[in-house]
Amino acid sequence: MFENKLGAWYTGANHGFFMSEQSEHPLSEAGVSTRITSPCVLIIFGATGDLTARKLMPAIYNLVREGQLPAQFACVAFARRDKTHEMFRTEMKEKIEQFSRIKPIDEAIWNTFKEQIFYHKSEFQDDDGYERLKTFLNELDAKLGTKGNRIYYLSTQPTFFPGICEKLHSHGLIYDEETVKNRWSRVIIEKPFGRDLNTATALQKELTRFLSEKQIYRIDHYLGKETVQNILIFRFANSIFENLWNNRYIDHVQITTAEDIGIGTRGRFFEEEGLFRDIVQNHMMQLLSLMAMDPPVDLSADAIHNEKVKVLEAIHFNTDKPFEESCVRGQYDKGYVGGKAVNGYREEDNVSPDSHLETYACMRLFIDNWRWDDVPFYLRAGKRLAKKATEIAITFKRPPDVLFQTRHKHNDPNVLTLRIQPDEGISLKTNCKVPGPSAPIQPVKMDFRYGSYFGMSAPEAYERLLCDCILGDRTLFAREDEVFTSWKLFTPLLEHWEETPPKGFPNYAAGSWGPAEADALIEKDNRRWRLL
Ligand code: BG6
Repeated sequence: MFENKLGAWYTGANHGFFMSEQSEHPLSEAGVSTRITSPCVLIIFGATGDLTARKLMPAIYNLVREGQLPAQFACVAFARRDKTHEMFRTEMKEKIEQFSRIKPIDEAIWNTFKEQIFYHKSEFQDDDGYERLKTFLNELDAKLGTKGNRIYYLSTQPTFFPGICEKLHSHGLIYDEETVKNRWSRVIIEKPFGRDLNTATALQKELTRFLSEKQIYRIDHYLGKETVQNILIFRFANSIFENLWNNRYIDHVQITTAEDIGIGTRGRFFEEEGLFRDIVQNHMMQLLSLMAMDPPVDLSADAIHNEKVKVLEAIHFNTDKPFEESCVRGQYDKGYVGGKAVNGYREEDNVSPDSHLETYACMRLFIDNWRWDDVPFYLRAGKRLAKKATEIAITFKRPPDVLFQTRHKHNDPNVLTLRIQPDEGISLKTNCKVPGPSAPIQPVKMDFRYGSYFGMSAPEAYERLLCDCILGDRTLFAREDEVFTSWKLFTPLLEHWEETPPKGFPNYAAGSWGPAEADALIEKDNRRWRLL
């Protein structure tokens, strides 16, 4: 029964992992849940950007294709460039063909779906543009039956977020939840939410002038990944691992988010944010908090968020020492990735030739609670590394120095690896006797692979998250205090970095595994970064 339900969940059928008022946990005794999405219009701000083309449109197309969106649905692209509906549709078809998880594109489905995609040209500050949008959305309601329900997806530079919300509010496009009951409006905010604790708090204050907290969906697409959701299933739906999940048995944890790509066309964004704000403060903290949290009292959104926040509050650097002893930053130089020569960061478009922005970061963190006292968590993330790989690797303590190992000759420790992507799966390294009389010991791997076991491609993170937003389920979106707590931890480091420009940038070659200082950081503790 367990397998059937979990299998159904992986087919992309309408089943939630976490439970909310609107959705059911797929493993609950109640059986298969049906998640019925309601009629609505999704309005994407900044729709000519990369995110819409590579992720959002393919996700919407796949949702339509799999019957997860109602027929009464429309998508309106709000952007500044001059385009017709037809031009935008043609561009999106090409992108869906290129980036969709399910290929080739189904012409019949596309021909119906494209009639539900529209382009609306306007500046983000232009009152007239919002008035025209309002009229247009009302027409869509009448024509398509979208019932006045709205999702506004803010995929713009973060500086536009408050201004857009203010305009939406002043033009009556955001409804007051207290008084308007028969339709809803929600806003999805892309990360990073602020640049540090002060700006995040200020942004929250600005947004809540126009929106209630319940209308704000802070997206972190890592939470929509099947393998990330599976961290809690793996930990709490099995009895054998949780007993070992503490400082008695675990030596250390390594979390890696490595990418072989550079910054592509996102020079402007990167020069403002850097890798730490792009990946570490959000995606990596989500991985860390799910990996390290205590079991929630139930699967409600709040119970899960509460436990995650407790972990985030307990995280610290080794505060007696300067940041340099716990963290390393890096920037890629030119090099070779996949046999191809690539530029250094400073040669990328829209990047300053003497930029100090980091494209790599690694650190050693501790979690100050009973479960994790003294267990180092090593985190590393970077662009233009040797390969794309995101994983959480848990290294267990070695057995005592008797029988099969001595003080001078150790066997490999057991390592449990949760492979988030690619090659999604879980493996456990154990020691094994090699057949034969001399009994040498060799590490072997027990390996589970999603692809071969379930034989299907899992839904993309954005498919899941867009659907959840339509359903009003905020479990897989970051809660306000999660974001603030992680900014509180990292703001002093980011300020320190701003005050002390890095020496020796660029300090790692594209296609390598990062700067030499990163190796030194972990080797000081007599450990090594995993070879991936
Ligand atoms: C985004 C970052 O949030 O995540 C990008 O802005 C990064 O810089 C991307 O490339 C990685 O996502 P994924 O799903 O490929 O790991």
